[in-house]
Amino acid sequence: MTQPNVTPINASRKSRRTVARDTPAIEPRRMQFDFESERRRFWYADNAVLTAFMSALSSTFPPGEREFVRSVLHYREQLDGELLEQVRAFAAQEGHHARQHTLANQWIDSLGFDAKGCSEHLENEIEEFRKNTPDDILLAATVCAEHLTAIMAHYLLTHDEIVAGLPPAVRELILWHAVEEIEHKAVAMDVYDRVCGDRDKLRRVFVVQTLMFATTVGRYTQHMLRAAHYKPTAREWLESSRFLLGPNGLIPGIAKSYLSFFRKDFHPWDHDDRDLIDAWKASQSSYAAE
Ligand SMILES: [Fe+2]
Ligand SMILES: [Fe+2]
Repeated sequence: MTQPNVTPINASRKSRRTVARDTPAIEPRRMQFDFESERRRFWYADNAVLTAFMSALSSTFPPGEREFVRSVLHYREQLDGELLEQVRAFAAQEGHHARQHTLANQWIDSLGFDAKGCSEHLENEIEEFRKNTPDDILLAATVCAEHLTAIMAHYLLTHDEIVAGLPPAVRELILWHAVEEIEHKAVAMDVYDRVCGDRDKLRRVFVVQTLMFATTVGRYTQHMLRAAHYKPTAREWLESSRFLLGPNGLIPGIAKSYLSFFRKDFHPWDHDDRDLIDAWKASQSSYAAE
């Protein structure tokens, strides 16, 4: 296993170079998951809202991740060395994620939801967005999305009680995806710093990207519930509010890491969470056998 250097782009970022030396390899893994063995319609914690929320998130991954790869690969001619290798590994990981989430979405739809409809809607929105958007903004949007996915990945990998209620196959999918998001969390940022580097622009895009992401997932969650012809109960809304806003909830859980993006010289590996990758590897029999 190689240990790629997570690009210190300019000389003023020596502290990043120190962190970067020990950053993990970006390792595309081929995985398979047995989604079909779960046939409960509301498969997450027997809660329709949480199931619809998770389904909405999953529906965004295939079109979203294809766009992340496209926006980064656009600049490959300007890259070389370790960073170019990292970009290739990042693209391979995201390609696998998109494929596995497409399979998960087919299973979700077999239970009465409409992940396919949401994915297609997002694909069209992205195509429209691309028409009038400069390439550096497209890349900035990917950097921001990668930060959002990395901090959600960290949250999921550190909150066993959140993933415990998932069917085994979905739990395995999410943990694998989370680990790989952490492995490649700095790639888009390092490319952005190499080819553009305008941090003020990046912070502005981050605000817009966050609002767009939250709105999209909210709309798709509603769409999933409509597709299932289901009106959630008070219990389901209450549990979902706790999931998002409770003391151990998603939003309080990621708030600090979210805000760190606004620091003047932020870099994803300022937050060293390699231990989460190692812990996941140790939990996998294939790694344990090595
Ligand atoms: Fe991904
Ligand atoms: Fe990613």
